[in-house]
Amino acid sequence: MIHRVVACAHANIALIKYWGKQTALGNLPATPSISLALDKLYTETIVTREEKGVDEFFLNDSPVEKTTKDRLLKYLNFWRSESLLDGTFSVHSSNNFPTGAGLASSSSGFAALATALGKFSNKKLNRSELSVLARRGSGSAARSIPGALAAFPVSANPSARRLLPPEKISWGMVIVVVNNAEKETGSSIGMELSRKTSPYYKSWIAQAHKDYQNILAVIKKDDFTKVGEITEANALAMHACMIATRPALVYWNGVTVDIIRSAKQWRENGLEVYATIDAGAHVALLARLDDLNKVAKKAKKIEGVEKAVICKPAGGSRVIKWE
Ligand code: DP6
Repeated sequence: MIHRVVACAHANIALIKYWGKQTALGNLPATPSISLALDKLYTETIVTREEKGVDEFFLNDSPVEKTTKDRLLKYLNFWRSESLLDGTFSVHSSNNFPTGAGLASSSSGFAALATALGKFSNKKLNRSELSVLARRGSGSAARSIPGALAAFPVSANPSARRLLPPEKISWGMVIVVVNNAEKETGSSIGMELSRKTSPYYKSWIAQAHKDYQNILAVIKKDDFTKVGEITEANALAMHACMIATRPALVYWNGVTVDIIRSAKQWRENGLEVYATIDAGAHVALLARLDDLNKVAKKAKKIEGVEKAVICKPAGGSRVIKWE
């Protein structure tokens, strides 16, 4: 019997964003999405079988706060209710990047957890099944299972699949971490609010489907300029929908806007870089691998920028060891 599993998953940042859920149960996205897994951002999770009769959860060595605990407990209960798992466990997760400030921590967190639980499972799970199970924890986590460049369609029970392996991807991202980024409305609550109240929600969903098809076509042609243009426009459309939500979901701060403006200026001066932003103030800058150093150097000079992390494409989630 397996006693302890260590698993790892990289965070991903979407080029085409997931924002909005279908009303049916099962954490089903209303938008198809495309993402890039990043080598410098990852979660390592250690799951140990315990005979205590209760599950325990720790993040970066501290017990998790109540809402996170409830969410994780619900997640393990889901695995048990599907007869995929029995017994109780302790879960120790550590992120090598800030948690909960819109930096994709749930993507790597639930992907690492699902990968570890999969090793304990009574059933042999393939990658697509693992991606479905990661999705039940957090939509974006489905994409960290295949990692690299992943596509996550809208369907009855979707899983994410790999479009290109890491070594075939000729671009990466600079994660620009902004000072004083506050903890904002979480994605699940934010999406639900947008669905219910944003006058632009329906147009956002329709646009996301178009962007998804268009980006798939230009990825095939390896047309970086078009990939970047669609990526930036898609993120801005999502934020338009967020900002129009009532009450408004304004995830940006002044520094976020400065970075978006700078990216435009750098582009005009011949450095091809495109901005994308999740549910927080930080910005991810998409650029060719050869340009990443230059982009990071320029980004660090913007006032209010704390750091700029150069990230290359990463692979999928994996079990590191078990005993
Ligand atoms: C803005 O995957 O965190 O980062 O399924 O409710 O856990 P839940 O949402 P989550 O949403 C991610 C939202 C986003 C865009 C994206 O990553 O596609």
